[in-house]
Amino acid sequence: MFQIDQIRASFPLIHRGSQQPIPLAYLDNAATTQKPQEVIQRVQTYYENENANIHRGIYDLARQATDDYEAARVKVQNLLNASKTQEIIFTRGTTESINLVAQCFLAPMLKPGDEVVITAMEHHSNLVPWQVLCKKHQAHLKIIPINDAGEVMMEDYRALLNDKTRMVALVHISNSLGTINPIAEMTQLAKQKGIPVLIDGAQSVSHMEIDVQALDCDFFAFSGHKMYAPTGIGVLYGKTARLNAMEPYQYGGEMIRTVSYEDSTFNALPHKFEAGTPNIAGAIGLGTAIDFIQKVGLHNIHQHMDDLLQYATETLQAIEGIRLIGTAQQKTSIVSFLLDDVHPHDMGTILNESGVAIRAGHHCTMPLMRHFEIPGTTRASFAMYNTKAEIDQLAEALKKVQAIF
Ligand code: ALA
Repeated sequence: MFQIDQIRASFPLIHRGSQQPIPLAYLDNAATTQKPQEVIQRVQTYYENENANIHRGIYDLARQATDDYEAARVKVQNLLNASKTQEIIFTRGTTESINLVAQCFLAPMLKPGDEVVITAMEHHSNLVPWQVLCKKHQAHLKIIPINDAGEVMMEDYRALLNDKTRMVALVHISNSLGTINPIAEMTQLAKQKGIPVLIDGAQSVSHMEIDVQALDCDFFAFSGHKMYAPTGIGVLYGKTARLNAMEPYQYGGEMIRTVSYEDSTFNALPHKFEAGTPNIAGAIGLGTAIDFIQKVGLHNIHQHMDDLLQYATETLQAIEGIRLIGTAQQKTSIVSFLLDDVHPHDMGTILNESGVAIRAGHHCTMPLMRHFEIPGTTRASFAMYNTKAEIDQLAEALKKVQAIF
C-alpha cells in the first residue's frame, strides 16, 4: 500500500518543512530529490563504523566496505535488469556517464561526415558532449524535431537514421516538458540499422520500470541524487561487448592490471572505468535508495506521479493566463508553465515567499526554450512524497503572483 503520510515522515526535510509556519512545498524534484532517513543513516553508518578503501585492503574493514560497495552494484543491476554485474559502472552522475560514452566509445570512431542523432528536447548534458565531438571531427549533430505538444516526430526520426548515423542519444523523460519518449520503439528503429543507442534516464529511473535487456539499448545513464540517493554518484550501464571494446575513461589506480615504467595493462570490467577511489558512501547510499524505492514500489510511485500530474494540470489550467509548455499524450511528473507575461525568475522569487520551491528558467535546455520562443518556464516536478495539497499551495501562490503583477 502507498501510505503518503508514512512516506512523508521518512524524509526529514519534508517532514520538518511541513511543520514550518509557511509549510514547504518542495516541487523541484527534477533538479534533485530529498533523501529518506534510511539513506542518510546508511551513509552516516558507513562513515562512523565501516569506512575503508575498497578492492585494496586485506583487513576485515576493507573487505566489508568492498562487499557493501559491490552489493550496491548488484542492486543497480537488478533495478535495470542488466544481465551482468560488470555492466554497471559507477560514475559521478548522468553527465559523467554520457561524457564517458562520448569520449571512450564515439570519439575514436567518429569520422568527417558522420552523424549523431538526438532529440530537440535534450538536457545540455545529452547535447553538448555530442556537439563538441561532432565539431571536432567534422561530423553532424542531427536533431529530431518535436511538435507543439513536445513530442518527437517519429517520421522525421525514421528519416534521420541512415548509414552515416554513428549514435542515437535519447532522453527518456524530458526534464523541461515531462514528455515520456517512446524509447523502446526508437531504440528498435536504430538497432534495426545497427546504430548504437544511449538512453538518458535521469528523470525516469526513480519512478519507471527499466529493463535494459528488453530495451536492447547499448548504454543507459542516470544519477543517484534524482532518485533519493546522495549527490556525486551515478551509473552508466553498458553492454559488455561495447564496454570491453572501449578505451578507459581515466587512468590511474584500480583500473590497471599491471604497470611498468614502459607499459600498462588494464583491469577487467567494471574496474577499467572506475579509476581512483570511488564515491564509496555514495554507491552504498544509492543501494539503500534503491531498496527504499522498491519497498514503496515503482508501480505505486509511477501511479502517484500520474495522479499528481493530472491534478496539477487541471488545477493550473483553471487559472486564467496559464500557458502549459509540454502537453504530450505520454507525460509524467513534470509540469512547465508560463503565467501571463511574468518572467519565470520573478515568479520563482514570489512563489518562494509562499513556501513553494520550484525551478524557474531554461532548465539546461536552452535550444528547447528557443523552439518554444520563450525565455524559460516555471517548472513544478514531483516525487513520491508530494501531495495534492502542495499543488493547491502552488495554485494559491500563483494567484498572489497575478495580484502583484
Ligand atoms: N537536470 C536538473 C534539472 O532539470 C538539474 O533541474
